Amino acid sequence: MATSLFSDIHMAAPDAILGITEAFRNDPTPTKVNLGVGVYQDAQGRIPVLNSVQQAAKIWATQEDTKTYLPIDGVPGFIQANQELLFGKDSSLLKEKRVATVQSVGGSGGLKLGIEFIKRFMGQDTIYVSDPSWENHRVIFEAAGMKVETYPYYDPQSFGLRAADMLSTLRTLKPRTPVLLHACCHNPTGVDLDESTWKEVVDICAERELIPFIDFAYQGFADGIVPDSRPIQLFVEKGLTFFVANSFAKSFSIYRERVGALSVVTGSQKEAAAVTSQIKRIVRMIYSSPPSYGAQLVAIVLSHPELRPMWENELGEMRNRIHEMRHLFAQKLKAVLPDKDFAFILNQRGMFSYSGLSVDVMKALREKYHVYGLDSGRICVAALNHSNVDYVCESVASLVKGT
Ligand code: LMR
Repeated sequence: MATSLFSDIHMAAPDAILGITEAFRNDPTPTKVNLGVGVYQDAQGRIPVLNSVQQAAKIWATQEDTKTYLPIDGVPGFIQANQELLFGKDSSLLKEKRVATVQSVGGSGGLKLGIEFIKRFMGQDTIYVSDPSWENHRVIFEAAGMKVETYPYYDPQSFGLRAADMLSTLRTLKPRTPVLLHACCHNPTGVDLDESTWKEVVDICAERELIPFIDFAYQGFADGIVPDSRPIQLFVEKGLTFFVANSFAKSFSIYRERVGALSVVTGSQKEAAAVTSQIKRIVRMIYSSPPSYGAQLVAIVLSHPELRPMWENELGEMRNRIHEMRHLFAQKLKAVLPDKDFAFILNQRGMFSYSGLSVDVMKALREKYHVYGLDSGRICVAALNHSNVDYVCESVASLVKGT
């Protein structure tokens, strides 16, 4: 064989999150549990296809009459429904056509479009993310040529928010610094800001003229569709312009369909049109135009008089089950480790619990007990159920006892 062109390509390190799922898949042990990736599982351990989504698929099968390209900015009905979900049906922003929304390849795609826009058009080379943040934030932002700095967020001593440190760091940032904020269900910690801290963040963003970039991947998983969008409302009420990347992977349980969007709240209809036109050019440069299927299903569900309430119920069931599992997890851990305090787990929200377990414990959990969580100690409580929670807690206890 002639000299290969690829002989000096090294293996990439496994992905910090999806690599754990690959290792889980390759593990033949029947008692294995995947608490790594942020994916909701029902009481039987299945990743459900929601009824509302199944019904929408049937409707779409009767409606689809072409496979031609979508417009670069995506399915029109999806864009409108998404804006109404984020900002409210009666939002004056929407009446004034001040929001530029472009469908994206999942929430990650929305982050990518947003950061490319910031890099190209807003003259910025550094973005601030929470310490810690979702692993892929850094990956996506650095790949766009940005430096990634952190602002204080999680306090491992109190298992809560370093609110004062976070706010004082944000106060030091130069005008027009982009700041990534998690709207709710902070990934990986599950620790969210309360309303008064959000108000302070919004005030600082206004005073310092920062560029807020909100990642909204878990709408409906904390308190509900409307309450979870409260931080966005606060930015709107303050009259700020900002970015939101959102995802339907979790709220519709359609992970592999890759449905998300980037929305940019601008100052006027004219600005929104200009911003949309530039984001469309970025889409064209990266993947030309978006896929159709998942966004059509979301558009049908959100605008259908029966499927919409059906979806809201299904989302509520997912939220309630996660809540129940979080309580069960804390209670069972307390039962097997009575000397330790796990009350902090109850204050966390969304799919994740930052368990406080060390990297050594997380590795031993995988190697000895086939319980897969992230090295950071992040555990997906949305994958716990009545059949696996005892095994998980006992495995944790056998490693933690005496430490
Ligand atoms: C996670 O954090 O586990 C999810 O957002 C899935 C992913 O792509 O990382």
